[in-house]
Amino acid sequence: MISPVRWDGCCLVLLDQTRLPIEEVDKPCASWQEVADAIRSLVVRGAPAIGVAAAFGVALAARQSRAVDGESLITDLEEAIKGLGATRPTAVNLFWALERMRRVAIANRRAPIDELRARLVGEAQTILDEDVAANRAMGAHGAALVPDHARILTHCNAGALATAGYGTALGVIRAAHERGKLALVWVDETRPVLQGSRLTAWEMAREGIPHRLISDVAAASVMQRGEVDLVVTGADRIAANGDTANKIGTYGVAVLARHHRIPFYVAAPFSTIDPSIETGAAIVIEERDPAEVRGVAGRQTAPATSPVFNPAFDVTPAELIDAIITERGVYRSPYRFR
Ligand code: MRU
Repeated sequence: MISPVRWDGCCLVLLDQTRLPIEEVDKPCASWQEVADAIRSLVVRGAPAIGVAAAFGVALAARQSRAVDGESLITDLEEAIKGLGATRPTAVNLFWALERMRRVAIANRRAPIDELRARLVGEAQTILDEDVAANRAMGAHGAALVPDHARILTHCNAGALATAGYGTALGVIRAAHERGKLALVWVDETRPVLQGSRLTAWEMAREGIPHRLISDVAAASVMQRGEVDLVVTGADRIAANGDTANKIGTYGVAVLARHHRIPFYVAAPFSTIDPSIETGAAIVIEERDPAEVRGVAGRQTAPATSPVFNPAFDVTPAELIDAIITERGVYRSPYRFR
């Protein structure tokens, strides 16, 4: 199994996703600051993987701290939690994982300091293990929705690389493949940062899963030709009413799917659901470096002075989503996540 985030006993080891698919290189992180940099620069990306990495970031902060008692350790952890929380605003798994780590620190603040440190590493590992288990459960629930000989279109990378392993949308696709139901995966290349072509295609090629890469602008035509049976994507944050933030371009794919009467599914763990917001209007959308749009893979393809709008995510309204696949089962409209 592809493991993009792992603990080696003293460091967090990340598979550097900025170097894929050209080379497989690990990036060890020995401090929470290095974890924060890795999240910001997309060395580790994808909502669940960001959450798992941040949890280990807090565990690393506890090991970096010279505090001799629980209360002062928590003061040091708060600085790390703030720094890690400032890396990327949209994926709620980041804040969910940080809050979970904070609670463990507070609950164990009277424990011997080294035991507290060990418990934080243990909690981060539990978050990682639970994520893989959730993805496998999600895969099983999602595969039941997939017809035989299915041609499935996906956008971005919601695979093993975006999680602790197995994947959410790609977990559903993997499970369908394991059950002999999959004919083909249409992989949107996913401009501007190409998570589809660089990462999803890499995962599919590595495991011999039949796939075909398309430029984003080809998705409409492939649907019009009747060559897509369903769409499944991941999510970065799901509001209580089911509105879903995911990689920029997902909304467009959902509109196309509805026009062509193709089921559009979202696969995500409960750690991606944010019941504190009623609708997607409250989701903060990250805007990234204009250079991502002015060029491709570091090569400039637009005037250096052209103004750019580069939102990393968009919000698909709940009414375009036929079902939300979670580890607890399949939810259908009207969504009421409380
Ligand atoms: O900017 P990224 O690569 O972190 O965006 C990732 C996505 O939008 C994924 O689809 C989402 O996080 C779900 S990952 C299981």
